[in-house]
Amino acid sequence: MKVIGLLFGMEQSFPPALVERINSTAPDGIRAEFVKIGGVKMADLMKYDVILDRISQDIPFYRSMLKNAAITGTRVVNNPFWWSADDKFFNYALMSKLGVPIPKTVLLPTKDHPPTTTSESMRNLMFPLNWEEVFEYIGFPAFLKPHDGGGWKHVYKVNSPQEFFEAYHKTGDICMTLQAGVEFTEYYRCYAIGKKYFHIMPYEPRNPHHLRYVADFTLTPRRKKQLEGYCQKIVDALGYDFDTIEFAVQDDIPYAIDFLNPAPDAEAASVQQENFEWVLDHAAKYLIELAVEGRKIPQGYTWSEFLSGSGATTAPKKATTKTATSKPTDEKKAPAKKTAVKK
Ligand SMILES: Nc1ncnc2c1ncn2[C@@H]1O[C@H](COP(=O)(O)OP(=O)(O)OP(=O)(O)O)[C@@H](O)[C@H]1O
Ligand SMILES: [Mg+2]
Repeated sequence: MKVIGLLFGMEQSFPPALVERINSTAPDGIRAEFVKIGGVKMADLMKYDVILDRISQDIPFYRSMLKNAAITGTRVVNNPFWWSADDKFFNYALMSKLGVPIPKTVLLPTKDHPPTTTSESMRNLMFPLNWEEVFEYIGFPAFLKPHDGGGWKHVYKVNSPQEFFEAYHKTGDICMTLQAGVEFTEYYRCYAIGKKYFHIMPYEPRNPHHLRYVADFTLTPRRKKQLEGYCQKIVDALGYDFDTIEFAVQDDIPYAIDFLNPAPDAEAASVQQENFEWVLDHAAKYLIELAVEGRKIPQGYTWSEFLSGSGATTAPKKATTKTATSKPTDEKKAPAKKTAVKK
């Protein structure tokens, strides 16, 4: 039996509905359940062939457990190694190199010193900063927002240097970016699953929370195709298998403004029923595909292997001869029993 495990926090509707959807559509020999975990033995084979991670960004114990699971071939969505290494500012820079429209963005030193540091620790920092140069480059209105974050926490729209400083003073030791404000006429939030299933949702972030998926513009076939193309580019570069990507359109140019969302909101009450059904269907489909493919046994035990997630999708046959220095180990052998789906 292959097992798909769901790891989650306070979500109410999505995890149980996803387990139900997987269990009602998966072929014999595959089932889904909530992950149950206690102390974790190093490099020990877990019962889960696939895990969907919705919460390890907030629980370091889970993040470490998931990296350990990847060592023994568990398919973890999203890749915990890459997620740990990533931040939104790097992603803006990366995508600007790949030709995705990104508003001008500047990374800023934190307002306060990080805990346990003093001004002595900051001797490489230009002080005072050349704020005029920053403001001239970005312009106003602008968005001051964390270089890594989510849930609209510490996101400030600022219209002048004075408003900027008022907001910046509230940010303490959070590393922030300043980004050119897009005066948008359309806005889209897009689910991207398995780097191949895309769902483009018109979204109005200026509406109250429960009405954000009710927008007064419609998605044209041309815009859909264009956004799907950008989504493909973004997830191919970032490697995420479960993500949302947000675009704000100004003068017919869709600017990608938020695309590091590896545990995106999927609650029925906020995303609305039609979108909820889409995400259930496609998350179930993709996780089942991974379970059918089976565990991905690392071919070598190096960081690059884990970052790229490029291991073999079945237990290595004679592959161990390729990596002459790596002796066959228990964790390499064990999944071999699991590759065939029992009927
Ligand atoms: N450059 C920008 N131009 C216009 N609006 C922006 C810009 N950046 C952010 N916003 C607005 O602020 C909102 C929150 O910003 P963003 O999505 O970057 O933050 P977040 O905390 O990562 O959000 P999420 O909860 O979606 O992960 C966006 O939905 C959008 O309405
Ligand atoms: Mg967002």
